[in-house]
Amino acid sequence: MSPVKKLTVGLGERRYDILIAEGLLRDLGSLVRPLLSSDGPVAVVTDENVWGAYSDAASASLAASGVKFEPIVLPPGEGNKSMSGLATVYDGFAGLGVTRNGLVIAFGGGVIGDLCGFAAATWMRGARFVQVPTTLLAQVDSSVGGKTAINLPQGKNLAGAFHQPSLVVIDTGLLGTLPDREIKNGMSEVVKYGAIRSESLFEALGRRPGPELPDVIFECCRIKGEIVERDERDFGERMLLNFGHTLGHAIERQSGYEGYRHGEAVAFGSVLAASMGERMGVTEPGSAEALRRTLALHGLETDYPGDVSELLPALASDKKNLGGEVNMVLLRRIGDAFVRRTGLSEIASALEGLGRWT
Ligand SMILES: NC(=O)c1ccc[n+]([C@@H]2O[C@H](COP(=O)([O-])OP(=O)(O)OC[C@H]3O[C@@H](n4cnc5c(N)ncnc54)[C@H](O)[C@@H]3O)[C@@H](O)[C@H]2O)c1
Ligand SMILES: [Zn+2]
Repeated sequence: MSPVKKLTVGLGERRYDILIAEGLLRDLGSLVRPLLSSDGPVAVVTDENVWGAYSDAASASLAASGVKFEPIVLPPGEGNKSMSGLATVYDGFAGLGVTRNGLVIAFGGGVIGDLCGFAAATWMRGARFVQVPTTLLAQVDSSVGGKTAINLPQGKNLAGAFHQPSLVVIDTGLLGTLPDREIKNGMSEVVKYGAIRSESLFEALGRRPGPELPDVIFECCRIKGEIVERDERDFGERMLLNFGHTLGHAIERQSGYEGYRHGEAVAFGSVLAASMGERMGVTEPGSAEALRRTLALHGLETDYPGDVSELLPALASDKKNLGGEVNMVLLRRIGDAFVRRTGLSEIASALEGLGRWT
């Protein structure tokens, strides 16, 4: 196993550690054992792909430390981050007799993390949970910070809660079985961290050979943890993490959540946001081009091939649209971002002529 890197998210009595190492799944049992305060079984919420690949390793580690557990295995996919997926998880918790003193483990990508986290947040008004993220996106983003949610037919993440995990266990070796497209999906968020907060990370991502993945994941979790410590509930600085997301979400909505993975849409949205900022005179010229180069180096498409003008109605229906204005995250330069209330008409004119218009 590689040396374990440790970060702490300092949120007072809700503080928790993030542990990162290749091969760390082998230690899962000994890491969760001290968190147990009841004899009841630990529920491991996971999906078929993850459990298919790692049930032996996870089970052996938990059993070796005397942790009684039962898996709750869902089919893979965003469709399970839903009322019916939640019902399956609650059924599982009830069947196992999970109590408020019990512990649940989210073992999977962001879908499982968000679903299991929300189930834990609401189970008997709040059970503790451990995040064991298995996708790059979940390792650098969704497993840290305590945002949990399910989707409703009316929209994504509409029912949710802030519920911080008690521990985040990141085994970077698990990414070995992740399909290439899912690695790219996560790399888009990695590039985002560089763009908003760390010029040195951004520069390292632009080199070949690039930095080692565990170092990159550590740096992303460090940045996210720091931001969450200062703005847990997303009223200020945490909004910076939405760089590329206002337009990215519009692209996802426009494509009916099919066709583009979230990170792919965010890559388009990041380049558009940087280009807009340059046109508005607030972003250092050349930033959009630098983003294009770095995203492309990691296999991401950078120029939205759809009709940019068609994103405007999707922006107007954004749940964060208040009085015709949205919070746009813009760059001053690579490594330095800020939030600006921006009118939809100003966005429309800054976007005009970028990409394809009809
Ligand atoms: N809570 C937050 O702060 C936050 C932040 C960003 C995204 N999210 C949410 O995360 C979700 C997306 O998460 P995701 O991109 O991880 O998708 P995902 O959980 O659907 O995983 C992607 C695919 O990879 C498979 N998989 C997972 N780990 C694997 C592994 N190690 N080997 C092989 N296959 C594996 C899964 O079965 C799935 O098919 C969205 O619902 C999004 O809203 C939440
Ligand atoms: Zn994102």
